[in-house]
Amino acid sequence: MRLEGKVAIITGAAKGLGGEMAQLFAREGATVIACDMAEMSYEARGVEYYKLNVTDTAACEAVFNYAKDKYGRIDILVNNAGITKDAMTRKMTDDQWNAVIDVNLKGVFNLTRHVGPYMQVQGGGSIISISSVVGVFGNIGQANYAATKAGIIGLTKTWAKEFSLKGGNVRVNCIAPGYTMTDILKTVPQDLLDKFAAMTMLGRLGQPIEVANAALFLASDEASFITGQTLQVDGGMRL
Ligand SMILES: NC(=O)c1ccc[n+]([C@@H]2O[C@H](COP(=O)([O-])OP(=O)(O)OC[C@H]3O[C@@H](n4cnc5c(N)ncnc54)[C@H](O)[C@@H]3O)[C@@H](O)[C@H]2O)c1
Repeated sequence: MRLEGKVAIITGAAKGLGGEMAQLFAREGATVIACDMAEMSYEARGVEYYKLNVTDTAACEAVFNYAKDKYGRIDILVNNAGITKDAMTRKMTDDQWNAVIDVNLKGVFNLTRHVGPYMQVQGGGSIISISSVVGVFGNIGQANYAATKAGIIGLTKTWAKEFSLKGGNVRVNCIAPGYTMTDILKTVPQDLLDKFAAMTMLGRLGQPIEVANAALFLASDEASFITGQTLQVDGGMRL
């Protein structure tokens, strides 16, 4: 029970990596507020659904107020909600660019701007954002997505500095997963997935639980001296 008594907010938690994290965190003793604009794909003890579109600034402030008023503390925030709208740069529309920036970058800012300073006053907490290997290496056809995932790394380093001021003791890290079997890969052709698997040292794609386990470690007190880091969970990928 590595998260006994802790309160966690996880975005994009109706399914996929967020869903895996929410269920794992709850099994480890946390109370989880699972935020998503879509309906939940599972039910689990200790996981409470909260309908949220992370691009909605006012709604993000509302879930922050809800969590602190109901539970009196927020120990963990996982900024996980993310989308792709792929196109080669010469063909990318404003809508594709704006949609991905809005969810993947502004959505991360929207909640953290409230939760980070609150944790600082509370005396501690762990913030984890989900970046991607694409933010580290870049990728053809994903200029919008790569910009947001690299942006998350910059935000992480900045927030690690800001929220530890005045003894804040807030740890801020991000995870850069490699290609992991969730619905986000549904549109990627199998031959490309095989190519991505071959690019890893372990010769395969990831499973959601492998990313969730890394998030559990960063959320827990076992990571008490780790902040400002990007943890690649990618089987040793070289793009
Ligand atoms: N699966 C991978 O291979 C992989 C690799 C690297 C990074 N990531 C990142 O991991 C995160 C989770 O991805 P996943 O693979 O679980 O994808 P997924 O599509 O299975 O799940 C994403 C969840 O986010 C929710 N969501 C989307 N937009 C939202 C919004 N505006 N407000 C609230 N919720 C919203 C969706 O409803 C969905 O439940 C994303 O940030 C993604 O970029 C995934």
